Amino acid sequence: MKKIAVFTSGGDAPGMNAGIRAITRTALSKNCEVVGIIGGYSGILEKNFIDLHLRSVANIIQRGGTFLKTGRCLEFHKQEVRTQAIQNLKNEGIEGVVCIGGDGSFRGAHQLFEEHQFPITGIPGTIDNDIMGTDNTIGFDTAVNTALDAIDRIRDTAASHDRLFIVEVMGRNAGLIAAHVGLAGGAEIVFAPDLVTTVDQAVEKIKSGQAKGKSSSILVAAEGQKPGRSYDLAEQIRKKSGLDAKVCILGHIQRGGMPTSTDRILASRLGTAATEGLLNGDKDVMFGVNGDQIVKVPFSYATSQVKPTPKDLMSLTAMLAN
Ligand code: F6P
Repeated sequence: MKKIAVFTSGGDAPGMNAGIRAITRTALSKNCEVVGIIGGYSGILEKNFIDLHLRSVANIIQRGGTFLKTGRCLEFHKQEVRTQAIQNLKNEGIEGVVCIGGDGSFRGAHQLFEEHQFPITGIPGTIDNDIMGTDNTIGFDTAVNTALDAIDRIRDTAASHDRLFIVEVMGRNAGLIAAHVGLAGGAEIVFAPDLVTTVDQAVEKIKSGQAKGKSSSILVAAEGQKPGRSYDLAEQIRKKSGLDAKVCILGHIQRGGMPTSTDRILASRLGTAATEGLLNGDKDVMFGVNGDQIVKVPFSYATSQVKPTPKDLMSLTAMLAN
């Protein structure tokens, strides 16, 4: 291939810039030109292309967000729109693409391959860590640490006032952020979308903690399909037990900020692997990690289901919150 493109799509995630840098510099080192597509799939439709050189990706490894911008493109669900997108790429002389994104982005990439046999590889960039076939996604570690920093601060005020807090974290319909933050933050209870914890169980846990001398508690709730659900949980807890729970919704704060070293390293390794793979003939696959190994995962498997919340972390959190 003489010319490839890179784009970021879906919710931005810290480390995406490190991924763009790795993809660009790997391709250039192999005498392949690189085009940056601005604004995700919409950028392909609007032919919003820029040439990327070695210096275009200087000084971005430490920056959160994505300098190529991103978005969610509903139009891409239409087949004729996808056909137009392929035409736009070909007109530009682009022979292959590396996509940095989450499940929706990979579904689009898979369709482009199925319908047009267009070579696309991907690397998982989403704070949710909800992609199958990879231990981690780019941005997850930073988001977990950002949420953890918030919980540590909330703990100070919770302890000072002897209060109960519900801290709501992102993750869409996945519970990975909640499970990791819950364990690392010493939460009493974690509400995950795919594992049922009832309000009765939560109240019982809080009350048994109080009986053992606990004066403050932190509950972590995944947003699930309903951001803001923590207010409902707080109301149900109040009705069942009379306990007053303060709610803190962390929201988009979890998406921003400087990527951790873990995310920069992951993005650099996967960006390079996905570019080398594309240039060597890989297509329709995401590059992820399994332990220390970089693995190739078909887009269809990566998006086959939402990665389940790890039950072992959940039970460890419950056992240690004693
Ligand atoms: O997928 C990343 C994510 O931050 C989810 O955790 C969250 O549910 C969603 O994006 C929010 O999307 P938006 O920024 O479009 O409101």
